[in-house]
This record gives sequence, structure tokens and C-alpha cells, in this order.
Amino acid sequence: MKNEAIENNPILTLANVSKNFGGVVAAKDINLSLYPREVFGLIGPNGAGKTTLINLITGVNKVDQGTIKLNGEDITNRPNYYRARAGITRTFQHPHLLQRCDIETNLFLGIDLANKKNAARDIEDREYLDMLLDRAGLNINLSHSIGKLAYGQQKLLEIVRALLTHPQVLLLDEPAAGLNQREMERIDKLIEVAITKDAAVLIIEHRMDLVMSICDRITVLNFGNQIANGTPEEIQSNPVVVEAYLGRRHNA
Ligand SMILES: Nc1ncnc2c1ncn2[C@@H]1O[C@H](COP(=O)(O)OP(=O)(O)OP(=O)(O)O)[C@@H](O)[C@H]1O
Ligand SMILES: [Mg+2]
Repeated sequence: MKNEAIENNPILTLANVSKNFGGVVAAKDINLSLYPREVFGLIGPNGAGKTTLINLITGVNKVDQGTIKLNGEDITNRPNYYRARAGITRTFQHPHLLQRCDIETNLFLGIDLANKKNAARDIEDREYLDMLLDRAGLNINLSHSIGKLAYGQQKLLEIVRALLTHPQVLLLDEPAAGLNQREMERIDKLIEVAITKDAAVLIIEHRMDLVMSICDRITVLNFGNQIANGTPEEIQSNPVVVEAYLGRRHNA
């Protein structure tokens, strides 16, 4: 992806965001900004607080301290549906799909929830959907049940569903986990769609080959702390990151 320069105002800003669960520090003084057309990586060991950050941005969890702004508007205390309608969309570490419903119902659920019901099913959106399914490599019958799809296909379908809402901020929680190499290559093609629409993409991922190849900037979390920020090159050669995360992975 690798964008040229960050010349715009940020779409999303987190300022001094903190969150504890009982005695667990899940986020401590997190500061980050997402800019249009950038792919931002969030990495770190298990339990570092990566998913929590998505939960705080989407409003699933409330911050203890700090501020979250979307296009300059303070959304810190806004409910999750407000944030969804304002253009913040996510996927889940493990797909959240309605297993008993057909694929089409699942696909349009996000749009229905974002209250764009009538706009969702017109011809233009159908063409957009076909384009997304093609990029995802999903040659599927939409009337089939979700259960007919393999795990990797379900995860790609979640990204398609997210893109159907035309997000400004797309938050992907470990999209490549459980995907084979061919499926993983589809993620890049789907992210490209969000980028051409001037969205910002935040990706949490343990697959370092993917992270290092698509991210413009990366933040590393460890025990809720933001231990490093930088380009993929800077992160890979940062001794603190190698000690806390990358080295451990290579030695595993
Ligand atoms: N709702 C919750 N209630 C209590 N503790 C929580 C809750 N959500 C997260 N935690 C704790 O906060 C810490 C961070 O969890 P989080 O799921 O954000 O980590 P992560 O970086 O996404 O890890 P992984 O790579 O395993 O997905 C963990 O110790 C976790 O147990
Ligand atoms: Mg997680």
C-alpha cells in the first residue's frame, strides 16, 4: 500500500487513551492517528491490548481516560451504533456471522445496522458487491448458508461485509489468522478498495510478512503500553520490539 505522504488531517485520533479491566492494564496512554489512505499496523504479543483498542474505538468498551475523535468530532462517549453510522467498521478475530442465516442476509446486516437499508440493495451496490466478492475470490451462491463456507472464506466475507458499508475507518482484527496463502493474498486486494475510497485501515496481525508488506506505519503494544511506533523498517530493527515480540516469535 505504502502511501506517499501524510498531507491530510487525521480521520481518527486517540489521545491518552487508557483502559483497565480490574487489575489488568489493557491500554495505557495510547496516542495514535489514522490518516486517509494509510494502512496502519497494530502488533504485539497475545494479551497486549490490540483487540481492546478496537473495542474502545468502536465503543464496545468505554475508555477510562482519554479522547477519541473522528474527523475532529469527539466521539469518546458516543454509543457504538453512532460510531458505526459515522463510518467506523470492524471485523472480528473470529468471524461474527449468523450461522443459521444465508450469506446474503449476513452481508447486508452491516449496512442494515448502519441504517443505510434502502441504499444497500440497489444496482450500484450489487455491482460493488460483485467487485468485492471477486477480489475476495469468493465465487459463491448468496442463498447458501454461511456453514457452507470454509473458515478462511468466512473471514474474507466479513471484510466484504465491512466494505459494503463504505467505511471511513476499517478496523481488521487478525484477518489472516486461519487463512491459507492464497486466501491471505486476497486481503491486500480488499484493503486496496478501502484505500482508493480515502479510508484509513487499521490492521491487527501476527503474520509479519503481511504486516511488513502492506503497512505504512506500525505501533507495537506490550502489556497495554505503546512500546514503539514507526515504519516497518524501523519496527523490524527496533531492539525493544525484537526483545518484546519479534525475537520471541522467531525463536518460537
Ligand atoms: N472484557 C474484558 N474483561 C476483562 N478482561 C479483558 C476484557 N477484554 C480484554 N481483557 C484483558 O485485557 C488484556 C488485553 O486483551 P486483548 O484481547 O485486547 O489482547 P490482544 O492483544 O488482542 O491479544 P491476542 O493477540 O491474543 O488477540 C488481556 O489480559 C485480556 O484478558
Ligand atoms: Mg486480539
